[in-house]
Formats: sequence, C-alpha cells, structure tokens
Amino acid sequence: MLVLGIETSCDETGAALFDTAKGLLGHALHSQIDLHAAYGGVVPELASRDHVRKTLPLVRAVLTQSQVNTQDINGVAYTAGPGLVGALLVGAAIGRSLAWSWGVPAVGVHHMEGHLLAPMLETPAPEFPFVALLVSGGHTMLVQVNGIGDYRILGDTLDDAAGEAFDKTAKLLGLDYPGGPVLAKLAEQGDSSRFRFPRPMTDRPGLDFSFSGLKTFALTTRQAQADDAQTRADIARAFQDAVVETMVIKCRRVLQQTGVPRLVVAGGVGANRALRDSLRQLAAELGAEVFYPRLEFCTDNGAMIAYAGACRLQAGQRHGLDVEVRPRWSLEDLEAIIRQR
Ligand code: KG4
Ligand code: ZN
Repeated sequence: MLVLGIETSCDETGAALFDTAKGLLGHALHSQIDLHAAYGGVVPELASRDHVRKTLPLVRAVLTQSQVNTQDINGVAYTAGPGLVGALLVGAAIGRSLAWSWGVPAVGVHHMEGHLLAPMLETPAPEFPFVALLVSGGHTMLVQVNGIGDYRILGDTLDDAAGEAFDKTAKLLGLDYPGGPVLAKLAEQGDSSRFRFPRPMTDRPGLDFSFSGLKTFALTTRQAQADDAQTRADIARAFQDAVVETMVIKCRRVLQQTGVPRLVVAGGVGANRALRDSLRQLAAELGAEVFYPRLEFCTDNGAMIAYAGACRLQAGQRHGLDVEVRPRWSLEDLEAIIRQR
C-alpha cells in the first residue's frame, strides 16, 4: 500500500510517500524559520498562509522525486492534531481533497503518534512493547507503547514542554528563533562547572516533569552576572545539563519500573546531541536498547505521518469526507490497531 503523508501542524510543511512493502520512497520538507524569525516565534496566521502556498508544490516534488504517479497512491494521511488549528486545517483540507479526487481513503493522524513511530522508519526498528520519551516543542511525555495506538502516558510535564523551555531560555539569552538548536550549539562552548541548575522533580518519586523553573533560574543567573559571551555559553550549558540529567533520571526510573528494555526517543529535542549521548550511556548501563529516528525525522516531517497513516489505513481505518482537525488531542484517545506488516 502506497500512502502520501502530509504534515502541517506547526511551522514546517512536510510531504512523503511511504510504501508498506518498499518503505520510504521519498520525502520533502519546507521550514518556515525565515518567515517567523523576525517575530521571534511562530505567528499562526503566517504559518497557515505559508502552508497554503507550499503544500501542493511539496506534494508534487515528492511525487517527481519518487517517480510515482498519482494513480499509484492507495491512501492519503494528514496530521489532524494536535497543533495550530489554521495550520492543521490546511493539510487536512488538501489531504482530504486529494484523496477524494483520487478515489482513495484518507486518515487523520495524531502528530505525536507520528513522532512516536518515527524510529520505525529505521533499521533495526524497535519491537513492541517499548517506552518512549517524547520531547518536542509542545510535549514532554513518557509513554508506554504496547502496539500501534495502544499508548499509556506514564509521565507528563506540569508546565513547559522541554522544547518550549529550550526556546524560552534561548530567547532570554538573546538567541535567535528557533532557540533550541541554537542554545544547544552555544552550550558546547560552555563550562559545565560554573553554574549548577536544579534537576526539577527528581527528588520525589514519579515520572512527571516541570521545566518552567529552569528558565527563571537562567534569567536570575544572567541578571546576577556580567553580560558577556562566555557567561551566556556557561548558562546555556548549565541549562542543557539540567534538562538532560533530569531526563536521564526519569528514563532510568521508567525503564526500571516497567521492566521494558527498549527506549525510544523522539520529537524535536530528541535531536539534541547531549541528550542522545547521555541516554545511550544510560541504556548501555541498564542493558537496554535505545532507538532514535535519524536527525531529520526527530523534528517535524511528512515521513512519520505517511508511516503512521499507512499503519492505520492498512488496518482499515478511514476518515469520512468532512475535514476535521483536533488542536488538542490526547494520545490515550487513539484507537489501538492490530499490526499487519
Ligand atoms: O517536534 P518538533 O519539530 O515540533 C513540535 O512538534 O513541537 O520540535 C521542535 C522543538 C523546538 O522547541 C526546538 O527548539 C526543539 O524541538 N529542538 C531542540 C533541538 N532541535 C530542535 N532542542 C534542543 N536541542 C536541539 N538540538
Ligand atoms: Zn512535532
């Protein structure tokens, strides 16, 4: 089954073709970074309008790149939520309409399920069950994954998501949008022994996170110091060390508590090198395996939506002709499907 996937939930337009027999045939991405940079963050209305401009050209590009004719496509998957409502509506309307015009089924995909399943596009792919650390701009969760759609949220953030904390801290350090990767790069030049930030919620049992205090800590540290480049790098380093160690502590806990020896790390913050290295070490120490999507599939992309959609379409799921999106949508509300390879 050959499925076209479309992602438009936030500030990236993605399109991809996934074939259940041959794997990923092609993918294309357009980032809106330049568009939003002047505003220091995502402007929802500009995001929607840009998706309108870019989605069809990207679909065309991926068809050409993969040498696929539209008659060969057996289904269309689009991100139906969670995300920015206007942005989601663009992908959903285009995806639903293309499916109707081609006479094939369509399915709306949960964006975080896309992230969660992105490591399935790699070899070796993780086997079920696994535990996933989902760390993106809008979410920070530990999820037990027993199968596709069979998700139990074991830990969640009480305030900021990990990526959001990276972005806000980057902003108060005067770094450009999108702050996460810029802060991570700056942290490489920082001295880890100069400042020590707290490891929030690690001194009590449980798997929840709280990151908003770290950004305040970064702010007060900055205000108390001379404002020079090295100090900014040292603060970035202390912040990143705190986020990474907090996640390592919680991942250690979740692996030990569940007894599941497989950890998947996905979402934009999963691209963070320090986090990847530390979790690899943790897994080696615990005799567990850790799985990452390739770097470009950690952040938003169409491939993960094509894959998740293909799994659902293959299991017989379909959406009606109406264009529906869900800006807020829990992973636990998804229907579990029996996997057919
Ligand atoms: O998954 P994603 O592309 O979009 C959402 O679904 O939110 O994640 C974007 C988030 C942003 O907050 C971005 O700053 C963060 O991931 N991010 C990073 C890195 N690359 C992206 N954070 C830390 N280190 C990175 N290398
Ligand atoms: Zn995402």
